[in-house]
Amino acid sequence: MQTAESRTEMTSAVRFDHVYKAFVGRGRGSDAVLALQDVTFDAKPGEFISLVGPSGCGKSTCLNLLAGLSSPSDGTVAHHGAPVRGINTSVGYITQDDNLLPWRSLRGNVELSLELQGVERHERRRRADDFIHLVGLTGFEDHYPHELSGGMRKRAGIIRTLVYESAVVLMDEPFGPLDAQTRVILQAELLKLWERSRPTVLFVTHDLVEAIALSDRILVFTSNPGTIKRDYRVDLPRPRDPFRIHETPGFSELHDALWADIRVEIESSRGRGVT
Ligand SMILES: Nc1ncnc2c1ncn2[C@@H]1O[C@H](COP(=O)(O)OP(=O)(O)OP(=O)(O)O)[C@@H](O)[C@H]1O
Ligand SMILES: [Mg+2]
Repeated sequence: MQTAESRTEMTSAVRFDHVYKAFVGRGRGSDAVLALQDVTFDAKPGEFISLVGPSGCGKSTCLNLLAGLSSPSDGTVAHHGAPVRGINTSVGYITQDDNLLPWRSLRGNVELSLELQGVERHERRRRADDFIHLVGLTGFEDHYPHELSGGMRKRAGIIRTLVYESAVVLMDEPFGPLDAQTRVILQAELLKLWERSRPTVLFVTHDLVEAIALSDRILVFTSNPGTIKRDYRVDLPRPRDPFRIHETPGFSELHDALWADIRVEIESSRGRGVT
């Protein structure tokens, strides 16, 4: 669902235009799974947008389409006005799994994308150390992933993608398995990093408080097949403090509205045996 504000394709960093995605069924006689149905939305440069909805509603599928890991069955997915065809190397993708290379140190992992871009050694080190400092990991540069805590590995995974400074960053439940306190600390750090270069972010989460603390807009998906049920604008002032977001005027009303929308979808997916 579009807001009243008019957005043209020319100014969109990301545009989904009547996108459908069906997956072929597995096993004899099984039907194709329609993951996405008529999904239309766009993101302006610098917008932070969260995608929320019940499990299986197609959130990861949306990110995969934009990253070019799969293609729509119908409709168009465009990145800065050009349809995505094949792997889209201009987006940064932070998956749920941190995917750090175990044989590289923290610094080696953060430098990897710069190395692939051909950035000169001295400059690579300067940029990596700058990001390592920003998330409080100075002193751990030479540690290997197994020598870092879960929260440290998440930080490393995030800065490894952000150091590349892509204009569009996709994040799929990046703080999923972390404890509540570490999540809020990382949310605050992510906001600081985002403020630096203001990439467009598509952020998948199941945590409504997290979505409100971080986002400019929140897209609520229906249960499978996923389509956009509501497009919320988060008008809470920035800069935001994720530690005190509950106290911000307007927070409770928005949280209640989101929860009411999502609860119906979760109940309807449970009713069909989807968990
Ligand atoms: N490669 C695939 N092959 C077949 N079906 C798939 C594939 N990827 C996703 N699906 C199906 O598409 C639907 C949407 O999946 P998707 O992973 O996008 O959901 P999601 O919203 O990210 O869920 P979750 O919150 O559990 O991560 C599901 O029914 C899923 O089984
Ligand atoms: Mg997913």
